Amino acid sequence: MTAGEAARPRVPAVTVAVACFALGIIAGAFTDQWNASRAIPVATESPAPSATPVASASPTPAASASPVAGVASAAPDATAAAAVTPPLDLTAHSVDDPGSVWVVVNKVRPLDPQDYAPDDLQAVADVPGGATMRADAAAAMTALHAEAVDAGAGFTITTGYRDHDLQASLYDGYVADRGREAADMFSARPGYSEHQTGLAADIQADGCRLEACFADTAAGRFVAAHAWEHGFIVRYPDDERDVTGYIYEPWHLRFVGVELATWMHRAGETTLERVFGLDPAPDYR
Ligand code: DAL
Ligand code: ZN
Repeated sequence: MTAGEAARPRVPAVTVAVACFALGIIAGAFTDQWNASRAIPVATESPAPSATPVASASPTPAASASPVAGVASAAPDATAAAAVTPPLDLTAHSVDDPGSVWVVVNKVRPLDPQDYAPDDLQAVADVPGGATMRADAAAAMTALHAEAVDAGAGFTITTGYRDHDLQASLYDGYVADRGREAADMFSARPGYSEHQTGLAADIQADGCRLEACFADTAAGRFVAAHAWEHGFIVRYPDDERDVTGYIYEPWHLRFVGVELATWMHRAGETTLERVFGLDPAPDYR
C-alpha cells in the first residue's frame, strides 16, 4: 500500500457500484428531458385549413409567430414519432424574390418584375419532352424521372420553364377557346405563373396531358407519393382552389427543395400559402 492509498478513505466496492448505477439513471433522465425539450410534437396528417402562419403545421405552441417550424412524423408509432427532423427556418429563403427557391407566386402575388427570367436555366437531362428548368430543379427532375422509370411509372415533360411571352400566348389561347373565367381556373396570366420562375414543370403519361386523369396513371401516383423526396410538391392539390386559385393539377410539379418538400410531406401541409402564412389567392385583385 502506498502513502497515497493509505490517505484515501476506503470505499466498499458495493457502494461504488450503487453510486455509479444511480448516476447513470440521473444522466439518462437528463438526456431524455433534453431530447424531449427539443422534440417537436407530431403534426396531424391533414391539418385543417388555416391562415395561421407557420404554426398551423405544428400544433404547439399554438399561437407562435416563430418563423421556425418543427417537423415531425405523422406516423403514430413510437419509432416514427422519434424520428423528428430538425426544425425548419421558414425565413431561410425569400418568398418574394423571384429567384428564390421558395418564391410564392399566385393570383395575388405576381412575379416582381413581371417579366422576370431566371439566369441558370438548363435542359432537363434524360427526360423526354425537351424542357428547361433552373439548374437545381432540372437535376432533381432528372433524378425523379429515373426513379419513376425504375418503378414502371415513366413520364414526359409537357413544359417546364415558360417565359412571359409564352405564358401570354398560352393564356390568351385558352381565353379565346373557353372564356376568361374558365381559363383563370387552370392557366395563370403572364407574370403570375410559376412556370416563369423555372421551378415548375407539367408532366404527362398514358395519354393524360393536363387532365385530371393524370392522377390515376402510374406516373401520377408515383409523383404524388415520391416527388417530395426530390424536392417537388404537387402545387395545386385537390380541393384547395380557394387557397391556390387553381383546380387540381396533379401534373404540375413545383420545385421547393428537399428540405421544405420533406417538411410539408411530414406535416401533411399541401399549400405554400398556408406554410408561409400568406393570403389565400382564389382570384386576381
Ligand atoms: N397551370 C398553372 C396555374 C400555370 O399556368 O402556371
Ligand atoms: Zn403547370
